[in-house]
Amino acid sequence: MTSYQPEIAFGIDIGGTGMKGGIVDLRGGVLMGDRFRLDTPQPSTPQAVAETAEKVAAHFDFAGPFGVAFPGVVLHGVVKTAANVDKEWIDTSLQAAMEPKLPGPVTVLNDADAAGLAEATYGAGRGLRGLIIVVTFGTGIGIALVNDGKLVPNAELGHLELDGFDAESRAAASARERDGLSWEQWAKRASKYLRHLENLLWPELFILGGGISKKPEKWVPLLKNRTPLVVAQLINNAGIVGAALAASQAQKGIELGAPESPAESTTTLTLD
Ligand code: BGC
Repeated sequence: MTSYQPEIAFGIDIGGTGMKGGIVDLRGGVLMGDRFRLDTPQPSTPQAVAETAEKVAAHFDFAGPFGVAFPGVVLHGVVKTAANVDKEWIDTSLQAAMEPKLPGPVTVLNDADAAGLAEATYGAGRGLRGLIIVVTFGTGIGIALVNDGKLVPNAELGHLELDGFDAESRAAASARERDGLSWEQWAKRASKYLRHLENLLWPELFILGGGISKKPEKWVPLLKNRTPLVVAQLINNAGIVGAALAASQAQKGIELGAPESPAESTTTLTLD
């Protein structure tokens, strides 16, 4: 059994189709060994998902902090939305569902927020100031807003309206498969969605993640956006790494999303 070390934690990323986990070395934000994946149970009820998380964890010889990333809003440990998982999750405590199944203290958060934390700490957003938007294109569209290295959790901008529809139903990676779109057709939708975001929030950078970022050459060059775009560096492991990081930070008493060494402020806000 791996004994508790402050710089090692376990991340579990719950997705609409798969649940992945692995041990993360937080000094570099890298997996120690392979990750392990099981299909997300269908229906993805709280009990079935918690049992699958237990199986993912049991695949490893690890006891210590566990971070669990979930594809919906998570407020104070409780799930508030469930666009791509069973609706029974709504108002269920993810924290309470996971705690009896995992051998260590549990920290829970939104999956895109986990990816955002990982990219801001170890990946494409490392050390950057200003507003960065991490967009994960997968079963849904996940968004992480990171401002001066600090996460603003639970931004649900994947559900903005696009052409009269919920944006993720048009521009998620799953929409490309469902609608049998060519890369060009899908990239047009993704680009339109990103334009909508950039017109509303004027970020300094988009970091593009999710499983689809494994093949960036197919679609990233087709995007027509004003904002600089980079591909996520942790790609498919960002959720695992970010969840593990959140778990480790929670052990150190660091509030979710706070940069470990706060970015220096360049502006002073005076309130009269
Ligand atoms: C959910 C988000 C989640 C995203 C990616 C969306 O449908 O509303 O909370 O981050 O999918 O999984």
